[in-house]
Amino acid sequence: MDLAHHHFHAASVPEGTTLVLDRPDDWHLHLRDGEQLAAVLPHTAAQFGRAIVMPNLKPPVTSTALAAAYRRRILEARPEGTGFEPLMTLYLTDNTPAAEIREAKASGFVHAVKLYPAGATTNSDSGVTDLRHAYKALEAMQETGMVLAIHGEVTDRDIDVFDREKAFIEQKLIPLRRDFPALRVVFEHITTQDAADYVREAEGDIAATLTAHHLLYNRNALFQGGIRPHYYCLPVLKREPHRQALIAAATSGNPRFFLGTDSAPHARGDKESDCGCAGCYTALHALELYATAFEAAGALDRLEGFASHFGADFYRLPRNTGRVRLRKEAWTLPSDLPYGERRIVPLGAGERLGWRFLGPA
Ligand code: NCD
Ligand code: ZN
Repeated sequence: MDLAHHHFHAASVPEGTTLVLDRPDDWHLHLRDGEQLAAVLPHTAAQFGRAIVMPNLKPPVTSTALAAAYRRRILEARPEGTGFEPLMTLYLTDNTPAAEIREAKASGFVHAVKLYPAGATTNSDSGVTDLRHAYKALEAMQETGMVLAIHGEVTDRDIDVFDREKAFIEQKLIPLRRDFPALRVVFEHITTQDAADYVREAEGDIAATLTAHHLLYNRNALFQGGIRPHYYCLPVLKREPHRQALIAAATSGNPRFFLGTDSAPHARGDKESDCGCAGCYTALHALELYATAFEAAGALDRLEGFASHFGADFYRLPRNTGRVRLRKEAWTLPSDLPYGERRIVPLGAGERLGWRFLGPA
């Protein structure tokens, strides 16, 4: 599954072409902690100015005090010479007090609160079991303008895993937004045409993040010649028409759609397992992956808004000032990378990638 040729027969841009963008931000990232944090942070810090750091640690980041401590650990692990800024999030539970939301907002460093339906994904056991339990917190979020970042999948075992995002829109998201019409919402890592249509057409303050892997692959990637655990993430890859709808959204120039890698590192053995973890590791080569997807769509001119402007605008933060450079130049991805004592496999390991990130412009 050569990244340069898997879906895309027409590379539109000649070798050696350079692409300069305002420095982008990653609006959905998993950094983990300890030696894993130290292993992955340099990749993100090289490419992105800021990132929304997801709170699904064990135990989860449920308070402003925990977020402050996690933020300090990230800053300590930050490579010398990068100005990378972690944008912290809180993990919403059935018991998050409204006062905690107000404190988070007042801190200046908590930029979103993440809703994980309990049991939806990695480390989501403490997530919300019923949205009604979180209504006081949601009210405080609506009042203060705190962003709600949503993992939009229902958790019903009776609902097919490929239908859980669509069901979430109908069963949870529409009623929630009816009750909180001024709540600012990011529908995270959308994977379906249904979600893209909803976000494009809905009233009010809503946006969506899009991962590189959902732009590049459909669900066939999970079964290419055998089962491929490194292509397994949540929400799971969908059919090709959904991928095409996501490409259309990402390249539309609509500021409701912006970059969020959902880079979610898991050690090799935890993915290559009889019950492998969900998550694709893309921090190493995030911009190159997005450039590959945008080039294939003939829309490289739309990458900068998507990667560098729309997310900051939605989060009401200033756009970054520096610029970064990529070059159209094939290189081969490493088969794996150090991850503390263990190893991690980047998405597309061992394959050729058509773009290379060069650094500051
Ligand atoms: C994420 C993780 O590993 O933390 N995994 C994933 O497949 N995306 C959790 C999440 O964002 O759902
Ligand atoms: Zn995630």
